[in-house]
Amino acid sequence: MKITISVLKADVGSIGGHIKPSQALLNEIKNFVASQAKNLLIDYYISSTGDDIAILCTHTRGTGDAKIHQLAWEAFQAGTEVARKTGLYGAGQDLLKDAFSGNVKGLGPAVAEMEIEERENEPFIFFAADKTDPGAYNLPFYLAFADPMYCSGLILSPKMSQGFKFRIIDVGYTEKNKIIELKAPEDLYDIAVLLRDTERYVIESIYSRSTGNQAVAISTQRLHNIAGKYTGKDDPVAIVRVQGEFPATGEVLAPFSIGHYVAGFMRGSHIGPLMPCKLNATISYFDGPPVVTAAAFSMKEGKLSEPADVFDHPYWEAIRMQVAQKATEIRRQGFCGPSMLPFSELEYGGVVEKLNQLEKRFILSD
Ligand code: 13P
Ligand code: 13P
Ligand code: MG
Ligand code: MG
Repeated sequence: MKITISVLKADVGSIGGHIKPSQALLNEIKNFVASQAKNLLIDYYISSTGDDIAILCTHTRGTGDAKIHQLAWEAFQAGTEVARKTGLYGAGQDLLKDAFSGNVKGLGPAVAEMEIEERENEPFIFFAADKTDPGAYNLPFYLAFADPMYCSGLILSPKMSQGFKFRIIDVGYTEKNKIIELKAPEDLYDIAVLLRDTERYVIESIYSRSTGNQAVAISTQRLHNIAGKYTGKDDPVAIVRVQGEFPATGEVLAPFSIGHYVAGFMRGSHIGPLMPCKLNATISYFDGPPVVTAAAFSMKEGKLSEPADVFDHPYWEAIRMQVAQKATEIRRQGFCGPSMLPFSELEYGGVVEKLNQLEKRFILSD
């Protein structure tokens, strides 16, 4: 049976700064989706990660479907109304355009979707990250799908021995989607050359080479490309199918134990370690640290099980302590050097304006 899994995510307002949506806002979005789900959705799951709300839904309408996108757009608009009325911070933050035009891509919300031929049993993981951007997934998914040091299935499972195809998008090019396809293992070094630059080259999707089936879909929108100025970080979502021809759940989770440094801490302008957190995690220290949550599901004919909160385990408590230390370490050097993003990524206008003013005061001498 062909099933589409769609995740549409937006920040439409939050309590006390960029911390978490209010219960009233979440309820409004839940009620709106429930009222529209009939005849459109098979199932859905609504959650928050930091100040972002994600609508995960299953249906048979394919990817990029106007009705599904409209449902999410209108749900986020209804949520924005509640955010405005109750004085939440950043009401409607990610709804960058006024009118819906058939597809929410390019309007602000993040989108990750895939149409699949559902397997006999269909386990997958839904990832959501806050205070970071889509490049945050480059390292963990490279390691989970291309490195036998993390993914033992690459050497132990005949279903995975041919490796995976990576589709990588150049998010610096905004006229069209500029995409390259590279194959692991033979193109490994080329993949690494691109994924090294997380602000420019981003994994868009990954496919099994033994079956051709899609394993991964990641949202690759960049908000400042749409708005032309800083309007919040891109806070990416991802869908990852697991088991069988794909890595095991634990193999996909394993690289998140690194707590690698990503872009997006405080004002979208700093580097911080990505902390794997429990579902519905909130935000705190220095508007961070950047967080990622993971809900594992089983699905049958599009019907979802309840989520398994896979970062809610004693193992990850120890990791969170290490990641907190990494966050404190890099913060000790404040604005200096690699703790702050390079000029090209400094999206919070002030510093750019200041540099332009200072430029006029430089004096040339021998
Ligand atoms: P304000 O400048 O509106 O306080 O916002 C700062 C901030 O939180 C960055 O997104
Ligand atoms: P969000 O993109 O999650 O709204 O964060 C904005 C920010 O700059 C927080 O400091
Ligand atoms: Mg926000
Ligand atoms: Mg956010």
